[in-house]
Order: sequence, then C-alpha cells, then structure tokens
Amino acid sequence: MSIHIEENLFSLETKNTLYQMMKDPYGQLLHLWYGKKTDQNMDYLINSNEINYTGVLYESQHDRSYSNDILPFELPVSGHGDFRISALSIELPEGSVDLDLRIKEVIPKDHKEPLNGLPYSHDGKNEKAEAMDIVLEDHQAAIEVILHYSVFYETDVIARSIEVINHNEKAIRIRRIFPISLDFQEQKFDLIHFYGRHVMERQFEREPISHGIKNISSSRAMSSHQHNPALILASPNADELSGPCYGNLLMYSGSFAGLVEKDQIDQIRLLLGMNPDHFSWTLESNERFQSPEGLMSYSEDGFSTLSHNFHHVIEDHVMRGRFAKEAKPVLLNSWEAAYFTFDGLSILNLARETKELGADLLVLDDGWFGYRNNDYTSLGDWQVNEEKLQMPLEMLVRQVHQMGLKFGLWIEPEMISEDSDLYRKHPEWAMVIPSRKPLVARSQLVLDMANPEVVNYLYDLFSKIIRDTHLDYIKWDFNRSPDPLYSSVLPANRQSEVPHRFVLGTYNLLERLTHEFPDVLFEGCAGGGGRFDAGMLYYTPQIWCSDDTDAHERTKIQYGTSFFYPIRSVGSHVSAIPNHQTGRKISLNDRKIAASPGTFGYELNPAELEWSEKRDIEKQIIEYKRRQPLIFDGNYYRLSNPFEDHAAAWMFVDKNQDKALVQGMFYRFISNYPGRKVVLAGLDPDKKYQVTYASFPISTHGRFEEGNESAAEFTKAIFSGQALMTGGIRVQTSMNDDAGFELELESLN
Ligand code: GLA
Repeated sequence: MSIHIEENLFSLETKNTLYQMMKDPYGQLLHLWYGKKTDQNMDYLINSNEINYTGVLYESQHDRSYSNDILPFELPVSGHGDFRISALSIELPEGSVDLDLRIKEVIPKDHKEPLNGLPYSHDGKNEKAEAMDIVLEDHQAAIEVILHYSVFYETDVIARSIEVINHNEKAIRIRRIFPISLDFQEQKFDLIHFYGRHVMERQFEREPISHGIKNISSSRAMSSHQHNPALILASPNADELSGPCYGNLLMYSGSFAGLVEKDQIDQIRLLLGMNPDHFSWTLESNERFQSPEGLMSYSEDGFSTLSHNFHHVIEDHVMRGRFAKEAKPVLLNSWEAAYFTFDGLSILNLARETKELGADLLVLDDGWFGYRNNDYTSLGDWQVNEEKLQMPLEMLVRQVHQMGLKFGLWIEPEMISEDSDLYRKHPEWAMVIPSRKPLVARSQLVLDMANPEVVNYLYDLFSKIIRDTHLDYIKWDFNRSPDPLYSSVLPANRQSEVPHRFVLGTYNLLERLTHEFPDVLFEGCAGGGGRFDAGMLYYTPQIWCSDDTDAHERTKIQYGTSFFYPIRSVGSHVSAIPNHQTGRKISLNDRKIAASPGTFGYELNPAELEWSEKRDIEKQIIEYKRRQPLIFDGNYYRLSNPFEDHAAAWMFVDKNQDKALVQGMFYRFISNYPGRKVVLAGLDPDKKYQVTYASFPISTHGRFEEGNESAAEFTKAIFSGQALMTGGIRVQTSMNDDAGFELELESLN
C-alpha cells in the first residue's frame, strides 16, 4: 500500500520516497514533505514564528504566526493571503480571484481513471498505479477542485493532475493551472533546465536559485525547441551519483510555464503547468476542466537515479503499444539523401541500397505529395504526386515490401500552405485573424486544430492513406509554432482557449490514428526536436531528437535529452559529411558512436559512399542490432558533462550488471597526451569485467590517423567493477578532434 490516509495526514509512499500532506486546523491542505522516507508525521517542520506584515486567516486572527503567506501549500491559490506565485487562479463571477479552498473529502481509489482527451500515466505490465483524490472546495464560490494523485511505487514516481468543477450558476474563468506545485522549506537549490533553439535543443543549464521569480516557459503552443517542460531542483552538491534532487515533468505538448520563486524567508516554490500568459478557460455552470498531468520523482542519489526513474515511468506507464517495449527498426531516411529531388525509381534504388546495408525500414520524407518540390507549397494537399513518382504510391510501397523492407512516410498534418487546394477551398481552416495578414514561417500556415471539422477531415484523410498504402511507419512533423492562435469556430471570449484546444485537437487526431493502426510505428518530429515531451511520447514512442545530425553537437543535445527521456525514444541517425548543418567532418565510426544512444538509422545516400564505407555501415548495423537490447533495456549513465568537460561519455549497463557498453567522444585532440580517463558507473563492484576496447597503433610520424579506424586493434583486459568505478579506465582515441571511443564489458562471474 502506498497511500495512507489517517485522520488529518495524507501520505503517498514510493519505494524510496515519502510525499506528505495534512489538513490544518482550518481545513486547508498543507504540503509537509517530499523527499527521503521518514517514519513520522513531518508537521513539526511547519514554521511557527510570527513573520511581520503577513495576513492571517479570519478564523486565526489572534494567532499571527499562522499566515498563508508563508505556509507550505499543497495547492497554492491566488488571493487569500498567499502573495507568492499561485498554482490555481480562478476569476469568479463577481470578478475577484480570491479562492478559499478547504478540504471536503479524501478518497482512496481502487484504480486510476483515464484523463479524458489528454495523455496520462497508466498501469504498466508489471506495476499498477495506486490512486487517491483530494477534493477541495470553496463553498461560497461553489467551486470544487479535485487533486488526482497516482503513485508508481516501484518507479518512485508520483503523478498529479487538477480538475476544476464549476457548481456556480454563472461562468467562471480559470486563469492559471499548474498540476505540479511543490513548496520547500529548503533554502538552497540549484535549478536545472534545458533551453535551446532549432538544431540546438535541450542544452543543459544549472544555476543557483536566487530571490525573485524565474520563468522557464513556452508560449509557442508547442513544448518548443527553446525550453522543455522538464525541471530539476537539486541540492547544490548533487551530481550524477549522489545528492538530493527532484525531477518534474509535464506531460503536455503545448505552451507551458515552469516558475520557481524564492520568497522572503528563503523558502522555494516550484510550479510546472499551463503557461498563464497563453491560457484562460471559461467554465460554464456544471462544466469541468481537466488539467494535463505532471510527473514528479525524488532521488537521494543524484541525477542518474532520477533519470532512471523517469526513463522507467515513461517506458512502462506513458508510452503505449508494442513499440514501447519492442526492438525498433534501423531506418534510412530520404531527407538528407535527396531532399525534394527524387522520383519513384530513385526511391526504389535508395530502397535497394538500404536493404543491402541491412537496415529494416526506408522512410520517404517530405516532397511526395501535391506539387511539393520546395517548401513553399502544397501542405494540406496530401495527394500523391504521381507525376513526380511516376507510379502510384501503393506500387512503390509494394515493391519496397517485396525487397523485404518496411516503408514509412513523412507527413505534417497540422499544417497548410497558402499555395494549396485545401487553403483555396477552406481558408477558414487556417488560423488567420480575419482582415489581418497572417504570420508565415517556412512559408506555411497552421490548421485550426481547435475546429473538430478539421480534425475529422485529417483523420479520414490520413487513415485512408495509411490503410491504402500499407504503411509501416509515419514521421509526424510540425515545422512551425502556431501564431496567430485564432479559431474561426470560437467566439471572441473563448479565443484565449485556442492554445490548449489546439493541442487537444492534435491529441485527438493522434489518439484516433495510433489506436486504429497499432502496428504502425509513429515517430514524432517538430523541425527536429521542437516537440520532444512526455505528452507526445504517449502517442509516438520515438521522436526525432534534432535536425542537427552533426555528431559533435548531437552528443550535447542527446545529453540534455537523456535527463528525462528514455534512450529508446530518441531518434538518432548517422548522416553524410561534410555535415549539412555544421560542415564538420567526423569519421563514420565516430558518427556511429554518437548515433548509438537512440533508435539508430541513416540520413544519407548510400550511392554517394565508397564501397568500403558501405561495408562499414553493414557492420555498424549488425553491431547496433546486437547492442540494441542493452541500449534499450539497460540503465543509462552519463559519465561526463559535455558542457563542462569538453567530452561526452555515457554507458549502458544491463539489469544483471553483466554487460555494459561505454561510449563517448573527446571534442579536442591534444598532442602528446597519453589518453584520457573515464570513470564508469552502475557496475557490480564485486564482479570482474572483461573490457574490450580499440587501441590505436603509434606510427613513426605520430599517432593513429583520422579516417583509418580499421587500423585500430582490439585489446581485452580484465578489471574489477570496483576499480572501474573508482579509478576509471584510460581510453584512447584516433588522432583528431571529435574522436569517439567505445568499450564493451562482459562480466566473468
Ligand atoms: C523538418 C524535419 C526534417 C525533415 C524536414 C522536411 O525540418 O525535422 O527531418 O523531415 O522537416 O521538410
């Protein structure tokens, strides 16, 4: 049992953590504790000093030490004496935002209810969620607020969402809603967040929290390249393998905000939820509003454990269907191989080459429909361009299937080009404010996903394409942020709902298509990794991590991505050199190393490669397939911080601690420097491991030369797990910048 309801004390327990709340003497819901398990009621920590110049509840007016302005709240609301940032703000019929929530009842549930229309964490194969509702009410305002909790005991994860019910006769308006809100009495934390831009997503940033409010957010109606709905609060001494840290992840793909405030007495409040600048919602009498869900985890042992908890909860309780657990196909994508310039025959040639390399799936990217020979046109006109392909798509797919290869297609359902038959027929389906010129990006507009007619149209269209062409895979792209957010089917006073309704429309389409085609692998994409979030992973169990395929930069992007998202969900490919984004030339072997922590594939035209390179790729694919179970099911450890160490290094260890794979890249070669050391993690200290690694022969004029990996010799040596995790191991690389290395470990016990 992980849920304990005593008279005034409500505790959620996971294997290693305790989350505790209490009903105060006035019926308010206080947050007492989240962290390492303790064996008692933590209410003795509540501050009982009088803090000058803070208001107190009317009922407690002579007890000046009991102020809402400093108490730790489980759901901080606007008004009523708490002047810090609020997790819930509702405009009442008379116009005020003063909420006075008191506990109505606490209900243990025998199962977790689905969240209608939204992604949510669900029972897994090996672990069921335990659930509890805390019902709060503002009696006078006739508003009920239900906090839905679910607990994944083994995974050390707690989920929370908020439901608001309007029992008023008049409409109310929700102005802020943050499913994660955590009040800490700790006074020192670092904030870790992941910022970025297109081709540079999820860059790691760590900073001490100072007084005031820090805002990490997206107002782009997508989780965005610029920030990710994932925040860590860490003790200043926390690192990968030690120290307390809290991970917070919003399961949502739209505009979000993560706010952190350090208050007048150095307490810290964290909120993660809908972006209040980009959201408000009118609730008519007797209507309900359900927020997205937030996932929280605490680790006493640093970031590795925290990441494992999030990897496990996403794999077991967020992603669905066979692809959440199964092996993934190695694919070759046509985008960087051909861009818009191809016909049916060249695609069949690409398929033949793909098959010869030993890959499983050919993906035909952008350019197969309408008159799409550049990105100015045809989004929305999803009719196959048979003139370009010189054959029906069904025929092309059939021939690819006959080669023993799977076939996938790129689509961008939520978009529309001004130059398209769909726009000419239904200009009102695009999000354009009447009488104003729309904002264009990549020459395209965005469809109004808040309009059910549009969603139904897209469902009919794409389900027919998938069915008729027997597709095995879909790459679902989203190449611009919606702006303006305007729906022609909503009245003026509901336009502020469009950012959320847009996401709900997309979720509805994803739900219907993924439900109807459980054997089709859907990969998410948004100009690379602009919508890499747990909401999307509920529908698309893999996501293209970035349009940046440069191995050097990718290791940094994948480093940031790995904090919350499982390695099996990360779309990562080897591409041609010079790299199309950076011009960098990194050896084929080192590009393979960088693409290994993920789903693996190629983004190049094999016809342009040397014969020997093709043979190397064949070997890479065989090797990757051998390693994939370890990469997908093993525990992942970051061994260096590439933002500080000038090197990326990571490893996978299988659950029995018998096999491991260590990989990495040193960004700069330093002359006359005898190799570098990497300290490993996650091994069994008591086991002996045979380590296989490449060593590079020293030639008369120096060391091993770039581009000649085949000269590397494989050496085996035996070390104890304890030594490898304490002293580490020296690794050699070839003689060039951005030089990769890898070691395979096998236990001898
Ligand atoms: C986006 C994707 C790319 C490719 C192009 C096609 O940029 O991230 O991988 O599919 O669109 O237009």
